[in-house]
Amino acid sequence: MDNETPVLGTLVLAAGKGKRMNSSLPKVMHTVLGRPMLGYALAAAPDGSPVAAVVGHGWERLRDYLSSSFPSAALIRQEEQRGTGHAVKVARPWWEKFKSVLVLNGDLPLLRRATVQSLVEFQASSGAACVLLSFTMPSPRGYGHVVRSGETLSIVEDKDATPAQRKIQEVNGGCYVFDARALASVIDGLSDDNAQNEYYLPDAVNAISAGGGAVAAIEVDSCECLGVNTQADLAKVTRLMRGRILSSLMEMGVRFMDADSAWVGPDAEVEPDVEIMSGAVILGKSFVGRGSVVGVGCVLNNARLGAGVRLAPYVVVEDSELKDGASAGPFAYVRGGSVLSEEAFAGKFVELKNTAVGRGSKVAHLSYMGDAVIGELANVGAGTITCNYDGVSKLPTKIGDRCFVGSDTMLVAPVSLGADSTTAAGSAITADVPDGALAVGRARQRNIEGWASRKTAREA
Ligand code: UD1
Ligand code: CA
Repeated sequence: MDNETPVLGTLVLAAGKGKRMNSSLPKVMHTVLGRPMLGYALAAAPDGSPVAAVVGHGWERLRDYLSSSFPSAALIRQEEQRGTGHAVKVARPWWEKFKSVLVLNGDLPLLRRATVQSLVEFQASSGAACVLLSFTMPSPRGYGHVVRSGETLSIVEDKDATPAQRKIQEVNGGCYVFDARALASVIDGLSDDNAQNEYYLPDAVNAISAGGGAVAAIEVDSCECLGVNTQADLAKVTRLMRGRILSSLMEMGVRFMDADSAWVGPDAEVEPDVEIMSGAVILGKSFVGRGSVVGVGCVLNNARLGAGVRLAPYVVVEDSELKDGASAGPFAYVRGGSVLSEEAFAGKFVELKNTAVGRGSKVAHLSYMGDAVIGELANVGAGTITCNYDGVSKLPTKIGDRCFVGSDTMLVAPVSLGADSTTAAGSAITADVPDGALAVGRARQRNIEGWASRKTAREA
């Protein structure tokens, strides 16, 4: 090994279909609070460790996710999924150049990075041929049981275990650090002569131990090692993850009106003195600045809220930003790269798509603004709509500073309203309006006197 080669490689096993999930989605692409399980495994890798994922079932989806979220991860194809031992064998050309290799099952989203780090450090300092995480389960069905006898340690899969071994509550957690040479010496000798006709990675542990190599199992808290094999496991793990995230936010000074009904994802950042009301969901790379209020039932996904932003109930913000002191709702939908500048407001039943609302401007009721740029201190009246789509392309609308857009104006894009201009209520605006002008784009009202009495006479 030359000095350039990193000491530790991290290999994530992610090729299985996850039969027990009964889903067309590959198991590790199932999300826990918006992040695929595969993402949790990769995020648990120690700093500086090169990472690779063994992929097989539905591998294109995994490739697409990795190329956007973990572009440095290598992909190793396991064409046929013949077991965890087989997955590690297929990856041998990748890991044999390292001194040690961390192998992680891809379905352990609750595993903490710090726990993985301490396992890695323990292997390095003890020089053990293999160390792994174990935990205790009162009803350990489906896991590999840890059988300790004298100096040797072995793992027996539930399906292959004797009735006595099945009662052993200490089970294999699915996270291992191997000395790469020790692993290489046993990986080709694995057999598939077992209940599942698979090559088991735990059998590599058993072979190392039987050959006199030092093997140790480190027991950790059971909830860190819950593996996800079914939709019920996924729901359970999601609830536990939610509790963990909310506890750490509360410790930092975030207030929850109802900590049993709010959901915050692992990539969201929430500052102290934010108040989160019941049923709010904050996912993706969202950020909520100090002193903001996220109202009842709001849903944020990749949303950025500055300081002191107020969201009334039922506001949905996707891929958009509300700057300091901006506000929205109730019932607003802000999406597609929209930005509300400081003190701007999007009110009741308002949809903004790819629209910038300038400082202090208001779109208060029942409006759709798409592909629009609104200047400062403008007022967009109730029912105003940008007609931004001609059936082929999306077209822009510009509303200048201090414009007063009358209620129910149709802005037929591309169109531009100059600064300080006004549109008459009910206008269809098809041509640009100069600065300071009043645009009237509607039929003049005509009153027909005596209509009601003439109508009654006709009908008599
Ligand atoms: C595995 C362990 C078991 C342990 C448990 C912990 C084996 C044989 N058993 O069981 O001792 O208690 O994890 O959660 O390892 N995979 C591949 N290629 C394959 C098969 C699986 O990449 O050919 C991947 C899966 O996508 C998954 C991981 O390996 O992410 C573990 O496979 P899984 O079938 O979930 O193993 P368990 O039955 O849970
Ligand atoms: Ca599993």
